Amino acid sequence: MTNEMTSTAFESLVADAVADAIVVVRRNIDRFGDAYVDDTTRQDRYPLRPAYGPFAKGQNRGWTTSFVPGMQWLAYDLTGDEGFREQALRHAADFERRLRADEDLDTHDLGFLYTLAAVAPWRRTADERWHAVGIGAAERLMTRFLEPAGIIQAWGDLSDLQQRGRTIIDSLMNMPLLTWAGDQTGDPRFADAVRRHTAQLCAHILRDDDSTFHTFYWDAETGRPLRGATEQGASDDSCWARGQAWGVLGFALNYGATGDDTLLDAAWRCADYLLRHVPADLIPYWDLVYSDGSDAPRDSSAAAIAACGLYELAACDPDRARAARARREGDALLDALIARARPANPEDAEALLLHGVYNLPTRTGVDEGTLWGDYFYMEALVRRTRPDWQRYW
Ligand code: GLY
Repeated sequence: MTNEMTSTAFESLVADAVADAIVVVRRNIDRFGDAYVDDTTRQDRYPLRPAYGPFAKGQNRGWTTSFVPGMQWLAYDLTGDEGFREQALRHAADFERRLRADEDLDTHDLGFLYTLAAVAPWRRTADERWHAVGIGAAERLMTRFLEPAGIIQAWGDLSDLQQRGRTIIDSLMNMPLLTWAGDQTGDPRFADAVRRHTAQLCAHILRDDDSTFHTFYWDAETGRPLRGATEQGASDDSCWARGQAWGVLGFALNYGATGDDTLLDAAWRCADYLLRHVPADLIPYWDLVYSDGSDAPRDSSAAAIAACGLYELAACDPDRARAARARREGDALLDALIARARPANPEDAEALLLHGVYNLPTRTGVDEGTLWGDYFYMEALVRRTRPDWQRYW
């Protein structure tokens, strides 16, 4: 945000961006109905999720499908329009079916999926049906907790030797489902898992220079920390931009859940490293190893997630001067996203946010809209517009 821009001018820019986002979410309900779109756009259009193995085209599988009802809940929170609520509840019913049918659940991303698809509907309707789905998903996530390492395994079947003992920075975002389940049931296993998993990430996935590994392996038999490695970043010792952004938001949310000051410190370490390594226009390159002048693609979704993390820090950091700085930095990222990644014509757009990267090493979803970029951009708009907004996480 330029120094000259007044806060009223920024607020009016944000209000316009909110109005555009609501238009896109509404039109996507007309376009896609109950079907699930793919993780990213192709040339700015969302294709339906392709058929894969036993799954039909447009079926609910993978880690990103809950961002669609997530955006519908955000639109409902902003407008009170029952159409958004009804469609989000239709998705909640499909996530209930997915859990009961045990479809594509061998992943730590149960947290992303069921926080938005079960906890959010429960928070907004108080219907016990969604409560039961959320608790079922949290119990399933707990089966991935590995002793003696004290981590939740990220990917794959637990007997998959390639994935055994591995977790990833994104996993921080899966902890709020466990925190919620612990609060609801009073069962200390959930909070214990959150405390141990986040402590392991703080100690090993966050490097001494405040950058992060994308993934880290532990010896599943002895619990010994082994080594960091990347999957979606430029190299094992580079810093994948979205991973760093997951660190900002994930550590901040888990600080709120645990009150552990080392997690607050970790969130700030991730934030300051990211802010020191973004180019002048503030939209991160897909890996923070690149800097001004590079023609590497940008990942707008990393900026959207980091903006939410900074707004979370603005809300939870007891140091009020630091909280005010977090809000200013969050505003600067949001302003840059509105200026550089918002589609020109919301009536025609299918993504809320352009110019994201899913996985550059596999050339998947490069310079495209992404479901999580759309969701967290909209969450950042909601956080900025509604300071009293009750989050789903
Ligand atoms: N959580 C997977 C990703 O950020 O690509």
